[in-house]
Amino acid sequence: MSAPDTPPRKLHVRTWGCQMNVYDSERMAEALAAEGYVATEAAEEADLVLLNTCHIREKAAEKVYSDLGRLRPLKAARPGMRIAVTGCVAQAEGAEILRRAPLVDWVVGPQAYHRLPALVAAGVRAVETEFPPEDKFDRLPARGQAPRGPTAFLTVQEGCDKFCSFCVVPYTRGAEASRPAARILQEARALVARGVREITLLGQNVNAYHGAGEGGAAWSLARLIGALAQIEGLARIRYTTSHPNDMADDLIAAHGAEPKLMPYLHLPVQSGSDRILKAMNRRHTAAAYLRLVERLRAARPDIALSSDFIVGFPGETEADFQATLDLVAEVGYASAFSFCYSPRPGTPAADRPGVDPAVAADRLARLQALIARQQAAAQAAAVGREVSVLFDRPGRMPGQMAGKSEHLMAVAAADPALRPGALRRVRITRALTNSLWGETV
Ligand code: SAH
Ligand code: SF4
Ligand code: F3S
Repeated sequence: MSAPDTPPRKLHVRTWGCQMNVYDSERMAEALAAEGYVATEAAEEADLVLLNTCHIREKAAEKVYSDLGRLRPLKAARPGMRIAVTGCVAQAEGAEILRRAPLVDWVVGPQAYHRLPALVAAGVRAVETEFPPEDKFDRLPARGQAPRGPTAFLTVQEGCDKFCSFCVVPYTRGAEASRPAARILQEARALVARGVREITLLGQNVNAYHGAGEGGAAWSLARLIGALAQIEGLARIRYTTSHPNDMADDLIAAHGAEPKLMPYLHLPVQSGSDRILKAMNRRHTAAAYLRLVERLRAARPDIALSSDFIVGFPGETEADFQATLDLVAEVGYASAFSFCYSPRPGTPAADRPGVDPAVAADRLARLQALIARQQAAAQAAAVGREVSVLFDRPGRMPGQMAGKSEHLMAVAAADPALRPGALRRVRITRALTNSLWGETV
């Protein structure tokens, strides 16, 4: 801790990429808080800047370098400023970042960020991108105790052994590993004690979770969810991201049986064409995915589904793309993310001849228009219904609070009694493009 008469050192964190990076940023900030760093929104007053990066698509890495460019005059004006690049770009680029951006002090990969406080204390420029033998979760300081917002992420599984032919994640996050159940339960209880009411369990393949349970036998994700549901004060459980091939029977059943498990599932399919799914190394067919959706809906009829899609994958024809549109039409997604394929260095698909970028852009626009129509229909269908909302932040209009419904729709309501953490029934009165308005009942 800093002495009472020295001002605390300030930490500025920027985060790109997936929810796991958001979780990692929170853990890094807590680890540095234990060393006396307080968070600041203003980069220009920071003593330490963390850029927690994502490598998933081309532009993600370029954004890091342009952000570093913007930090250059700030560091010139404040020579004591130190800069660390963490996350998946750090893992992928390693020492190249120190070469290309001399203002960077530390490059630390996602499996080594527990070493950040020691690196900062040592003060010497360094790269930490080996996958260390120790588990970072064992080395990180215990979670903070300060009250926090009502929703939290909690990493239960990390890494990926699937090697989809387009994807960098198996290289940046490393091999699949699950945390022991007891540690997750302990962390969840600590979060609930800080005011958390909804926990989203995270993993690159979260439904492949197989952490050690009591006595050492592996627990499935469904079993872990069942144990978490026993925590008093925890109202909602979600998990992301799932691979269709790991959607086990007990997990599907949990959607029908566990009231705290929310009726929403992000289940990326990427494409509706079997030829392209095979080229992507997804190891399932479109029909198998549709059967899975059917089983999920049999277990929980109102479950809302979302997915990721890649268009313009090498070799994708108009007929392949049409198969994707057909699958989307058949499933009816509550929301979905879609991207033009971006060749990533070191992945098997990167060397394959690509689709004309103009054709890919046109397909993306058509897919996004269809998804937007489905999303609008889902929003409109909510009007007149009563939903349960966990409020967690001020709404856009004065007097409003906003939060998420069980189906992960953004809902705002004006009620002076609402506080962050309130879980209330709301009657939906109006559907906007990305949110719903309603009245508490
Ligand atoms: N672990 C998650 C995926 C993380 S990446 C999962 O298995 O579903 C999130 C999404 O980014 C992917 O689902 C995919 O749609 C997209 N994506 C990944 N690599 C990509 C690439 N090279 N080009 C375009 N989109 C990509
Ligand atoms: Fe990437 Fe595929 Fe693993 Fe998801 S399952 S992280 S898309 S390799
Ligand atoms: Fe990006 Fe790494 Fe997440 S590449 S999507 S930050 S796992």
